[in-house]
Amino acid sequence: MISAFKRTTIVTTITLLLCGLALQPAWSQMKKAASKVTSVKNIATPAEPWWQHAVFYEIYPLSYQDTNGDGSGDLKGITSKLDYLKTLGVDAIWLTPIYPSPLVDFGYDISDYIAIDPKYGTMADFDKLIAEAKKRDIRVIMDLVMNHTSDKHKWFIESSSSKKNPKRDWYVWKDGKTPGQPLNNWQSYFGHSAWQLDPKTNQYYYHKFYIQQPDLNWNNPRVKAAIFDAARFWLKHGVAGFRLDAVNTLYEDPDFTDEGIVKDKDGKPIINAYGDPTLDDTKTSNLPKLHEVLAGLRAVTDTFPGQRVLIGETYMPNVAELAKMYGPRNDELQLPMDTQIGFINKLDVATFRQKILEAETGLNGNLPLLVFDNHDNHRLDVRYGDGTHNEDIQRVLATLLFTTRGVALMYYGDEIGMKTSTPTRKEDVKDPIGVSGWPKEKGRDGERTPMQWDDSANAGFTTGTPWIRIPADYKTINAKAEVANFNSMLNWYKELITLRRTQPSLRDGNYVALNTTDNNVLSWLRQAPGKPAVVVACNFTAAPQNVSIDLTGVGLGGKSAKTLMKTPGSSDPASLTTIQLPAFGVYVGEVQ
Ligand code: NOJ
Repeated sequence: MISAFKRTTIVTTITLLLCGLALQPAWSQMKKAASKVTSVKNIATPAEPWWQHAVFYEIYPLSYQDTNGDGSGDLKGITSKLDYLKTLGVDAIWLTPIYPSPLVDFGYDISDYIAIDPKYGTMADFDKLIAEAKKRDIRVIMDLVMNHTSDKHKWFIESSSSKKNPKRDWYVWKDGKTPGQPLNNWQSYFGHSAWQLDPKTNQYYYHKFYIQQPDLNWNNPRVKAAIFDAARFWLKHGVAGFRLDAVNTLYEDPDFTDEGIVKDKDGKPIINAYGDPTLDDTKTSNLPKLHEVLAGLRAVTDTFPGQRVLIGETYMPNVAELAKMYGPRNDELQLPMDTQIGFINKLDVATFRQKILEAETGLNGNLPLLVFDNHDNHRLDVRYGDGTHNEDIQRVLATLLFTTRGVALMYYGDEIGMKTSTPTRKEDVKDPIGVSGWPKEKGRDGERTPMQWDDSANAGFTTGTPWIRIPADYKTINAKAEVANFNSMLNWYKELITLRRTQPSLRDGNYVALNTTDNNVLSWLRQAPGKPAVVVACNFTAAPQNVSIDLTGVGLGGKSAKTLMKTPGSSDPASLTTIQLPAFGVYVGEVQ
């Protein structure tokens, strides 16, 4: 089972019109957003780090915008979309890997850490992107893959050339247990044994991911020095920080003994999508030594001016483990991803309330980095949709992302409501796990399809042949159409981001859970000292719900509220005690 990123398919196997003049303020605001390109500056005070209130936006460069007609996105394409991103309200873009790579894992198999893959452009294109982004107050985050390299990286080519090669111990090499049998039962997240026999030297190398992604040996100080040097290279180029890939898997337990097999309630092994028993991951994930690396890298980034930031791909088992990723003195990651909340994958009020509470109380006061979507998991429609109200459900999720207390990380295309488009034929699959795992595991192509810019050929993504199939729904789901439609998902996102910036309580306020016994509607309050509080209520059900909010407990008893945002078509409440929410409806109001 993939615990580094929880593939939905695997988890599932295992697991109006305006009504009345009263709406005018909110709707006229939305209309403005739809018709005029506006952007609101983030009002960070100089003392606080920029990232604390930031909106991060993940870009899968292969799929964002092609400018040379080769069918794959490139850096110039991203640069050409910076105005769009600015208008949306993005503060920083995270680019998944753009280093030279054989692209077995679409860039997560790096063959040179200090260059740009010609597929994406040149170093000059990269510098231009940074400079143009800076003009717009947008920062650029690189993806740093520390766990493994490509097997085509010169380090591995040297390492595998002989047992005596000076780079031999840059990777994890072991003799087999017996001839033809690896040392232990450890498995790759991408299926089958994590050990690959190298016939030349008759030893096995360890790979937590694809065979073509040998794990680096982090017990070797030279590995650490080389990767930290690569980080310095990009920091000097002006990147604002890194998203650290698969950090949990940097170390393996030095005893190299078998991992436990996970069993179901009847004591039978749980079989994963690749037909292997699921292992408990205790020997190959989240080993304590990784914290030394994180603290070391943080010391490096902290020597650079401009508050560089470390984001972690941190699928942790619980909030206590997540808390550790910030470091004992807040000296490790500033922003480990909180996947506890965004990947609940079920609209369940009690679970959301509980997970938000845990983030509030269990992270030593640190901000959670909220994330609901990325390039490894099916998009929101599949993980949360009910097939009938998918758009409204997505509005709920976006509201959670931008109005609870936390830093927000979103995935390209979410803002226009792009849907998962999983291949229906094995021969179309690009992601190797989709080939090896077919039909149970169809891979990650469905969430990596090109950004849908407009309704022209290939969704305006490329003039060539797209590297991956473009979903047919681009004719209606596209950025151009949505800019013009004030009811669109795009305008919902813009409006939420604007509110988050302009309402002091949404920026800096405490989070207070409201109506905590209600299992249909999740309601909360954000309140900054001396500023108007903001109430949010989200209907998690397909049935209309009536909500009555009493703010006596927070010293605001009897107050009314002015509507800031609400689901298109829903009516304005006469008071906080009579909020009527349609199916999966949202209400956001400023307490007065
Ligand atoms: C996590 C990345 O997000 C995923 O796309 C990749 O396959 C693995 N790490 C291995 O690098």
